[in-house]
Amino acid sequence: MDKNFKRTLVTTALPYANGPVHIGHLAGVYVPADIYTRFLRLRGEDVIMIGGSDEHGVPITIRARKEGITPQDVVDRYHKIIKDSFEELGISFDVYSRTTSETHSETASEFFRHIYDKGGFVEKSSMQLYDEGAGRFVADRYVIGECPVCHSPGAYGDQCEKCGSSLTPTDLINPRCAETGNVPVLKETKHWYLPLENYQKALEEWILDGHKEWKTNVYGQCKSWLDLGLQPRAVTRDLDWGIPVPVEGADGKVLYVWFDAPIGYISNTKELLPDTWQKYWKDPESRIINFIGKDNIVFHCIIFPAMLMAYGDGYQLPDNVPSNEFLNLEGDKISTSRNWAVWLHEYLRDFPGKQDVLRYVLTANAPETKDNDFTWGDFQQRNNSELVAILGNFVNRAMVLTHKYFDGVLPEARPTEVETALTDEILSLKARITEALETFHFREALKLAMDMARAGNRYLQETEPWKVAKTDMTRTATILNTAIQICANLAIVFEPFLPFMSAKLLKMLGGDTITWDMLGCMDLVPAGAKLAQPELLFEKIEDSTIQGQLDRLTRIKEENKLAAWRPEPQQPDVPFDDFMKMDIRVGTVLECERVPKADKLLRFLIDDGMEKRTIVSGIAKYYKPEDLTGKQVCFVANFAPRKLKGIESQGMILSAQNPDGSLVVITPSAPVTPGSQVK
Ligand code: MF3
Ligand code: ZN
Repeated sequence: MDKNFKRTLVTTALPYANGPVHIGHLAGVYVPADIYTRFLRLRGEDVIMIGGSDEHGVPITIRARKEGITPQDVVDRYHKIIKDSFEELGISFDVYSRTTSETHSETASEFFRHIYDKGGFVEKSSMQLYDEGAGRFVADRYVIGECPVCHSPGAYGDQCEKCGSSLTPTDLINPRCAETGNVPVLKETKHWYLPLENYQKALEEWILDGHKEWKTNVYGQCKSWLDLGLQPRAVTRDLDWGIPVPVEGADGKVLYVWFDAPIGYISNTKELLPDTWQKYWKDPESRIINFIGKDNIVFHCIIFPAMLMAYGDGYQLPDNVPSNEFLNLEGDKISTSRNWAVWLHEYLRDFPGKQDVLRYVLTANAPETKDNDFTWGDFQQRNNSELVAILGNFVNRAMVLTHKYFDGVLPEARPTEVETALTDEILSLKARITEALETFHFREALKLAMDMARAGNRYLQETEPWKVAKTDMTRTATILNTAIQICANLAIVFEPFLPFMSAKLLKMLGGDTITWDMLGCMDLVPAGAKLAQPELLFEKIEDSTIQGQLDRLTRIKEENKLAAWRPEPQQPDVPFDDFMKMDIRVGTVLECERVPKADKLLRFLIDDGMEKRTIVSGIAKYYKPEDLTGKQVCFVANFAPRKLKGIESQGMILSAQNPDGSLVVITPSAPVTPGSQVK
């Protein structure tokens, strides 16, 4: 590391507890943070990793009202799912708490109060939208109306998603509260603002001059915010869910969720280390690393640092804010509300014991510098041709051959130039992997770790112990000893990435404690050690498993299409006489049968009260012929006859079409004399 730090505080963005976590969260924040923390721990550094659920904010209150439960019920449900699934994936938090905890509300209140007492806030009254029917203020996002720019009907109070214009709710034509449909009114209310402009200069120095080493996406976003000039930001809201604003005359007001959530990092450190938490925050020899997604950059690089400056008292600013871009799923943006995601708890249920496969794929494909795509095809491919075929295969060969030729007892090595060259290669990989991990290039680090397994495979391929064993057991001993040492090195180098595999491999080798320092040593397993029976580290994932996941996504696409369905806009008016020109009648189905070689068509013989008529109708996918025989149907009688598959159709049977395309035949609600007209 370039600077000398005594200890590191790793924080991870607190996920909102209004849904489970998905692969986008994992790839962006939790897997990289876990890799980094595990790496530092292996180096014996003083490091703690902090996490927790973000349990305030408007969306949680809306979900609660929708489900008829309390906001606390909502967050209790998702906090548990999130916490348990992180743990099962091996995300090694030292503490995973929540922003509804006692410690947090005390800490956040005190934080606000301290800045307030120093005169660090500006009080301002403004007109906000109010839903009189519901008796509450409405957040901008939850007012909808016609866009003043493109006139599309569903624009939100803060933005029109059709044309991208950013809006304020008072811009909307015909604004309505999304939840109640009420027309919002303007009502005066008082809030507290953090005057960000007072910190503009300090932030510019700290980021633009002081942190040129930050990732370009992070630095760039900060620069454009700073270039625009910072404005005061409201840090309180009119809402009944959150941490009450701890000053007189603030009834019905709570801290804005983005004010309290980052303070959660402090509260959670306190919860973990009630006596010593301060040194992680205030000692200049400590450093803080915030792992976040790109939508969180401004909050972590501008607003929270300004809050810390406003508070003072020795709080340190983050040393780095490694932020990732977004992960898409099969080409489409991940969306909680549209259920377009791979949910962690469902993955763990569907792929038991395969935590490392997901960790591997999400790291190999991490959206470090640009948005990336998760596909099930890539998941299968990386498992089968990388984890199984390279890593798993090498370890298995080394283990099986040692059992075959030496009964699983590790023989002595007498290294030659070949082994020395291999050791050098491992040491050089170690240096590059260390550098990549220190600079948050986790994809690169993983690729280089895989190169170590590749080097092992190549070594066995070149030395061919299965041939040498026929003539020279001393040389065979050296080769297999070396191969087993590589396995031990793989158990170390992969620990941050694939901790489950690493533990299993270590057990097979009879090892226990590992450190990053040991990486590159070729005497990690002593000669004479008895190796356990080899077990496969990874197994092939079959096409049928992948198809199951793809089918699920197809179903979700269908459901979303149906949910988005709206009736066709009404046709232009027609004169009554035009309608009267249509001759619509009721008839009774005498015969009904499939039309050969036409899977959509049914042929009807209808009693129309005059004579019998034949009609061909494209509803065969939705009805069995026998179900319609004897029923009454409505049909247009005065269409000119036309031929369908060689049959002359004398009219058209009327059906209604559902959003999914299915057809339902229209029948009278009581028996009608055949030939009666429909008017
Ligand atoms: N809940 C926020 C999100 O998911 C992240 C909060 S990070 C914290 O976007 F710093 F506020 F905690
Ligand atoms: Zn618009």
